[in-house]
Amino acid sequence: MKSHTKYARGYFMPPVPSLKWTEKEYITEPPTWCSVDLRDGNQALIIPMNLEEKLEYFQLLLKIGFKEIEVGFPAASETEFAFLRTLIEQNLIPDDVTIQVLTQSRDHIIEKTFEALRGVKGTAVVHLYNSTSVAQREQVFRKSKEEIIDIAVSGAKLVQKFAAQTEGNFRFQYSPESFTGTEIEFALEICNAVLDVWQPTADNKVIINLPATVSMSMPHVYASQIEYMSDHLNYRDNVIVSVHPHNDRGTGVADAELAMLAGAQRVEGTLFGNGERTGNVDIVTLALNMLSHGVNPQLDFSHVPEIIAIHERLTRMKVGERHPYGGELVFTAFSGSHQDAIAKGMKWREDEECQYWTVPYLLIDPKDIGREYEGDIIRINSQSGKGGIGYILEQSYGLDLPQQMRESFGYHVKNVSDQLHKELMPDEIYNIFQTEYVNVTTPVEFMNYRSTQQAGFETIVSIRNQDQVVEYVGTGNGSLDAISNGLQKALGISFSNLTYKEHALEIGSGSQAVTFISITAADGTIYWGCGMDVDIMTCTVKALFSAVNRMLKGE
Ligand code: KIV
Ligand code: ZN
Repeated sequence: MKSHTKYARGYFMPPVPSLKWTEKEYITEPPTWCSVDLRDGNQALIIPMNLEEKLEYFQLLLKIGFKEIEVGFPAASETEFAFLRTLIEQNLIPDDVTIQVLTQSRDHIIEKTFEALRGVKGTAVVHLYNSTSVAQREQVFRKSKEEIIDIAVSGAKLVQKFAAQTEGNFRFQYSPESFTGTEIEFALEICNAVLDVWQPTADNKVIINLPATVSMSMPHVYASQIEYMSDHLNYRDNVIVSVHPHNDRGTGVADAELAMLAGAQRVEGTLFGNGERTGNVDIVTLALNMLSHGVNPQLDFSHVPEIIAIHERLTRMKVGERHPYGGELVFTAFSGSHQDAIAKGMKWREDEECQYWTVPYLLIDPKDIGREYEGDIIRINSQSGKGGIGYILEQSYGLDLPQQMRESFGYHVKNVSDQLHKELMPDEIYNIFQTEYVNVTTPVEFMNYRSTQQAGFETIVSIRNQDQVVEYVGTGNGSLDAISNGLQKALGISFSNLTYKEHALEIGSGSQAVTFISITAADGTIYWGCGMDVDIMTCTVKALFSAVNRMLKGE
């Protein structure tokens, strides 16, 4: 690409190194979360939400536990105005929830915003913004720095005036929009000018929101900008530093996380990162990242699949399969070695007293966010292996295959998936197992057996071989040995190293026992068979016949 010559780094480093945040390791407490789904998220939708949809989304945000919600830009559209009025008039805002409205720094817009807010119960945040970046000043507004400060200051004064005249309790917020393209000293100057108008106090704090309107730098630069602002803002004790990252460089989450280390006390974002262009920062990921570090995010994401269903229906957007935490495939392992490690890790958890979640490849326990293990964690295709396939038979059907049999069955299933070029569902895997290994009756079918009264073990076994029922006698040092010896003699075959494992069947089918047998043919090939029956000895003999039949067929 030659087009790189077209681009320059358009962000501004702080004038002094601001890197104290690098000494912090993780976020120890959640920020104040503010959802901007109903404003920034909604304004980016192909079909914005209607009134009913907004009301339902608002309820979803309340259920998750948001205490601050930006409900719109009421002066910008009739629906947003009507939505805010509905919330106020129908008394839908809980006492412990603060709503927020956005307004440009323009007189008639500020006036209309306060008209929409009349009679609001509790506190409402009035969020004032104007654009401050070099590009916006030069190209869009064609105004000097002084003129841009004037816009912010006159807007701040007007907000203060209308707040005093309007029934209700108001908190003020100012955003230097396009902060990331603004010289840091100028951003500081304009924020301090607004703070001088609003004069924040301990009882009446002001929010200074520093948006990555367009993310332009690597996250450490944004963090340094936030730290510089946080260190140099006037009235700092009475200012709440807020961030509002967008995701243009795919680093919205990293920007927000490092900004929190750098002093941000509040984060504005959306569910699953909906929002303009590549979206706003994803609050679900931020919150669950915190959970994965053992910190309670104070938002309830214990039912993520339900949240996704509502979110997708109302926004008409899709949460991608690989989206952190929410995506359909993010807890799924197809690869054999990953499946093996997960299956062993899950078993480890069952057997040991584990205080912490340490299962390999799974950052968090899927159950904590409402995902199921079954069908979610281990899915089978041609990349899969013995561990995962054995895990599915065990979890879904209660079949605990011996390790070596898992390997041999694993190859078989991989081949089937490879040939069909598709994923195999648990019932398909079980059907393959049944057809290939369980109670195999061709070419030789076991009919029945009885022990004779001779000393030692002697059995008479009836078999159907090529449509003829024949009997043979076998002797050995136990019933199975006698049957196996007699069968080899009767069919003129030989095998050795008979191994055997049985267990009760607790899931499904009327059978009560399952037996797995392996035999080794003269050329060293190992053949496996499985029997299922209510009678343990019959079950064992069926397993032997299954293995022998597979050997006769060379399977
Ligand atoms: O992205 C942005 O800068 C905004 C402002 C209005 C805060 O949404
Ligand atoms: Zn935004």
